Amino acid sequence: MFPKINPTTTQAWLLLRRHFEEEMSRTHMKDLFARDADRFSKFSLTAEGILFDYSKNIITAKTLQLLLQLAEDCKLKEAIEAMFSGEKINETENRSVLHIALRNLSNKPIYSDEQDVMPEVNKVLQQMKDFCEKVHTGEWKGYSGKKIKYIVNIGIGGSDLGPVMVTEALKPYWLEGIQAYFVSNVDATHIAETLKKVTPEETLFLIASKTFTTQETMTNARTARDWFLKSAMNEEDVAKHFVALSTNEKEVIKFGIDPANMFQFWDWVGGRYSLWSAIGLSIALTVGFDNFEKLLKGAHTIDEYFKNTSFDKNIPVLMGLIGIWYINFFGAQTEAILPYDQYMHRFAAYFQQGDMESNGKSVDRTGHRVSYSTGPVIWGEPGTNGQHAFYQLIHQGTILIPCDFIAPAISHNPIGDHHEKLLSNFFAQTEALMNGKNEKEVKAELEGMPEDTMKKLVCFKEFQGNKPTNSFLLKEITPKSLGSLIALYEHKIFVQGVIWNIFSFDQWGVELGKQLANKILPELKNDEEIKSHDSSTNGLINAYKTLRQ
Ligand code: F6P
Repeated sequence: MFPKINPTTTQAWLLLRRHFEEEMSRTHMKDLFARDADRFSKFSLTAEGILFDYSKNIITAKTLQLLLQLAEDCKLKEAIEAMFSGEKINETENRSVLHIALRNLSNKPIYSDEQDVMPEVNKVLQQMKDFCEKVHTGEWKGYSGKKIKYIVNIGIGGSDLGPVMVTEALKPYWLEGIQAYFVSNVDATHIAETLKKVTPEETLFLIASKTFTTQETMTNARTARDWFLKSAMNEEDVAKHFVALSTNEKEVIKFGIDPANMFQFWDWVGGRYSLWSAIGLSIALTVGFDNFEKLLKGAHTIDEYFKNTSFDKNIPVLMGLIGIWYINFFGAQTEAILPYDQYMHRFAAYFQQGDMESNGKSVDRTGHRVSYSTGPVIWGEPGTNGQHAFYQLIHQGTILIPCDFIAPAISHNPIGDHHEKLLSNFFAQTEALMNGKNEKEVKAELEGMPEDTMKKLVCFKEFQGNKPTNSFLLKEITPKSLGSLIALYEHKIFVQGVIWNIFSFDQWGVELGKQLANKILPELKNDEEIKSHDSSTNGLINAYKTLRQ
């Protein structure tokens, strides 16, 4: 196992602190650009057709050199090797972390518990391929003999967000005759509104749950089955309309799904890293298995690149290190992901789970409370909507929000000059965030205005600038490029988790709420006054009981 190193005890951390305090806390990016005409070429890289421009960051060559030293000091290389070789780096659950095996199209053996996982991975991929073929050709028929037209994926968290994000991002690739829906919330509205749009005879429900015990998913799955059985002739028809994507065969059988209709994955696949597994069946059914394979390929090429590229040229490593620079030295607590592509509208939401569930930890790998910040708040909306909503705060607010801007050069909808307008906004925003607007520039703009009005206005119209951005530019959003982009972000999360010396692949923090909800549920099923909690919780439960009458 790679060593457990408190990053703040490394020499690099001390040097970075000094470098920040003595130099960079007073540096403006505008001056860095003015000093070096080649800054863009020095601070940009391309991998798998994805251009990563990190020049609009408050960094110099020295910053990077120290951050790279931090990666060395924290044994990032060893950590990458440990993950790729199947070591049980998810120690609190005693599991390997092998989402990279799910897209290992090289088919080289990857071991967990001394067993090559690739034969099993390939078997399930083949099962998914065959199943897609049957559904798409109409060989797989609903109970009344009709072809499947509607796919309803029932899952939550990692069993929902990945498939939703990818199918939305790849909408131009949707197969004709297939319509996909996703139900996640236990709020009955979600399933009720979805069931209004589909017919029992033509719907395939994918019950997606790693554990097959998640309250929301199992509740929605039972509601879907009850709804289905109201129209279907008999119980056996369930087999034609319900399949399971899970690691838990016992629970799948208990629910009443034939294990022959189960698509297996394994405990070494983290929920939020599972879209590449059987959990991706909704993706394959919607965009076709070929495109699903291209998605895997895109991710696989980045896995190889991440593993084999020196850190100074390694995009996920640099993404992670630059993030650490802002979080741990500038005190940033949040990062925005801003895709300038409407189809990518769930990308930030996807990585909200990916990042926050992975690195939202405050105990290090030795069991001690950390004394430094870890995972940031991740959020974002597609451009240009965000510009008219929250960019004001990014430009002129009091907190620092490093942003990732992402855009394809080619739109899937090349109508008029929409795309040029969209991208002009992307470029303008990153430029404005970097340069800002100083007093002299504001005054020049207000030229002709009465002197005292101008004086009053100047301070409001000034922009400090020096707001950091990364820009990602790619030719087009395709299954392959999307796969690569997702893998870059996944590995960024890994890099940061290693440096923060935390366990990125467990999620104990979501358990407490689940346990308490299970305790409260029976209390809601009667009209008795509840006294077993604190006064606020009792008060809320009792008020609810009064209101519902
Ligand atoms: O929210 C906690 C969590 O365990 C996530 O990590 C996971 O993606 C989600 O619940 C769903 O879990 P399952 O796939 O087991 O239903």
